[in-house]
Amino acid sequence: MTSTPTTEETRVATITTGLDRLRRSLHTGARIAAPYRVATEPSWQSSYVAPAAERPPVTARMAAFGYGEGELHGRAGLADDLAMTGPVRLLTPDGASVLRGICRRLEASAVHNDYVVSRRLRGVETLSPFVHAMVRDPVFLDTVSRLVGVPLIPHPLRDAGVQINYYSASGDASRAPLVAKWHLDGMNYVFTMTLSDHAEHEGGDYIYYRGHPRVFEAHREEITAQGRRHPDVHVAPFQHVGDTMFTRGSRVYHAVTPVTRGHRITLAVSLFCPLLGDQDENRFWHSAPDDGLARTLNNWNALRRAIRRPASYCHREGIPIRPLARRSATRA
Ligand SMILES: [Fe+2]
Repeated sequence: MTSTPTTEETRVATITTGLDRLRRSLHTGARIAAPYRVATEPSWQSSYVAPAAERPPVTARMAAFGYGEGELHGRAGLADDLAMTGPVRLLTPDGASVLRGICRRLEASAVHNDYVVSRRLRGVETLSPFVHAMVRDPVFLDTVSRLVGVPLIPHPLRDAGVQINYYSASGDASRAPLVAKWHLDGMNYVFTMTLSDHAEHEGGDYIYYRGHPRVFEAHREEITAQGRRHPDVHVAPFQHVGDTMFTRGSRVYHAVTPVTRGHRITLAVSLFCPLLGDQDENRFWHSAPDDGLARTLNNWNALRRAIRRPASYCHREGIPIRPLARRSATRA
């Protein structure tokens, strides 16, 4: 049974901008807290991808979030206006269970950073061969592409492409609770998979504002103070290990409330549409506070190269080209 959270439990700040981002960009800490022992990791199998999803309980187009025709992604012949959908199962129960075990073992490597998510691990694809193989698997990529309706491949910003977020009750009132502050992502296509059953924690709800960011920003104080009690703030209905929501993260304000009991782990996989690469919404100053200036410059160059020459990027990174060729099939 869950108790009704108090205002203090649900109020989550918005991320900072301006000079604070520059300050953070100049003082980034270690990327991982401890090395990860890959030797014990099980291998990825294509059979871990779940069969085609049932109709998800939540599906919303950009118009439901107040976006006009002229603001949408996509181009002639390629509509791209899905705002969110889910929860769906991308992996079978076995696949989700193996992934949960891996993400639990990776927790020792996670670092604290209060810019957006309090405790997390970035660049997971470079640490875990299982995750590296999963995001390149043609069956996995076909499944996510079909859900959104555009071809999707691993994002060229590898540090931000796959990350694990860890939330737990601190039990120490003097420590700030672990949250995700209200924010927009740089990424257009974000799949958030919970690796905890909701019964394992209280709080830790993924909340989102069902409205235009312009309106959110005009009423920031009121919305963040009311949290889930605000009529336009909704809770994503994650329940079980493996439940996954697609969100157009760059266009939908969202946050995660503090966990007041137990522990919650989520995996966030951000993908890239090679046909709409020039509409990628990542901004240099969004990533720099997480990765530091030098690393962000390198990442930025990799992203620009991938936007200009997506086929070369796929070839270099061992990404199957098939989803690119299946554009018409993805509109089913
Ligand atoms: Fe996010």
